[in-house]
Amino acid sequence: MENFTFYNPTQLIFGKGQMEQLTKEVPKYGKKVLIVYGGGSIKKNGIYNKVIDYLKEVDADIYELSGVEPNPRLTTVHKGVEICKKEGIEFLLAVGGGSVIDCTKAIAAGAKLDGDIWEVITRKKAATEALPFGTVLTLAATGSEMNAGSVITNWETNEKYGWGSPAVFPKFSILDPENTFSVPRDQTIYGIVDMMTHVLEQYFHHTKNTALQDRMCESVLQTVIETAPQLLNDLENYDHRETILYNGTIALNGMLSMGYRGDWATHNIEHAVSAVYDIPHAGGLAILFPNWMKHNLDANVGRFKQLATRVFAVETEGKSDRDVALEGIEKLSAFWSSLGAPSTLVDYDIDDKNLDAIADKTLVYGEFGNFKKLNKEDVMSILRASL
Ligand code: NZQ
Ligand code: ZN
Repeated sequence: MENFTFYNPTQLIFGKGQMEQLTKEVPKYGKKVLIVYGGGSIKKNGIYNKVIDYLKEVDADIYELSGVEPNPRLTTVHKGVEICKKEGIEFLLAVGGGSVIDCTKAIAAGAKLDGDIWEVITRKKAATEALPFGTVLTLAATGSEMNAGSVITNWETNEKYGWGSPAVFPKFSILDPENTFSVPRDQTIYGIVDMMTHVLEQYFHHTKNTALQDRMCESVLQTVIETAPQLLNDLENYDHRETILYNGTIALNGMLSMGYRGDWATHNIEHAVSAVYDIPHAGGLAILFPNWMKHNLDANVGRFKQLATRVFAVETEGKSDRDVALEGIEKLSAFWSSLGAPSTLVDYDIDDKNLDAIADKTLVYGEFGNFKKLNKEDVMSILRASL
């Protein structure tokens, strides 16, 4: 392992009926509360009314920012920052999926910043402070509810970047599995692919002696693989929603990657694809990740073999390591396809027209990926294989 310091201050409040904890948590941070939410799902499923009732119970002054887009946009972040500055907002409450939480993180940091938050997102400035915020998570996917990362799209320049700061860990996150009952089938599939890819991005590294981390990653993958088909047959099953929700958080709250660095190249490529085509994040991952795997097989075939045998129970007898590894990749692709995830860019009507521009976007900070450094040729090859 490499030396490490683990820090995660987010209070995780998990389980049925836990939304009422808002009445205890919110008053700790102030009275003027800005609720941030998306395109209206929380109004249809009743979560909005519950949140408002709990906030009224503690006499909060409630402000609202609605309409946060999937793949949240800088323009919406700017609107939120303006409300915070104008109204003297003391606390933000994100009610939604990863997009709403990521947007809230950018607003929270932007409200305390002298300058434009885009400078932070493009790594020209650091965000050292932020308004406090909490979350009510409604979709199991990104892990944003318990990490300090955020991904924002500038639709005017077709740029989508991840950024992070210890200042934007949520103070608390409330995860009630029932709040995810209404997530439609396609978004449920995307969430499953996203959390699995988070684990896989971390799994591919060259650091020695990560026996426990490997087993933890494999356990998360196996648990998701067991549960996902059952959940998709029964979208309002509490136990399955609960399992998937918990897996999504564990997949990206830092617990799995103590002592080593994951790769994250596929996330970088996917962000560039959705900066141009605005496709669902995990739809892009389902297409790109197996091609990233095939492209990098020779960087350390043993890791791929370990995944194939331990997670996908691939038999090894009479086969080369490479063949075992490739069979594992095929099993992963087949699993995602069996759930209903896309497998080619053509599924989103994406052809080769903009591949060159997409590849350039992935390289704005230079060659990338920790398992295998990728240059433009590598990216083009992965993108072409994904068509
Ligand atoms: O906008 P509303 O009406 O809320 O509808 C949303 C949206 O249309 C809907 N939804 C959410 N909860 C629901 C629901 N519909 C019915 N019932 C519910 N309970 O689902 C749609 C997608 O929501 P979104 O928040 O966009 O999905 P997700 O959580 O997958 O977030 C995706 C964003 O997160 C970024 C992605 O790049 C993308 O922009 N990521 C953030 C990460 C992080 N901060 O750590 C890591 C990830 O890898 C990822 O890059
Ligand atoms: Zn992701």
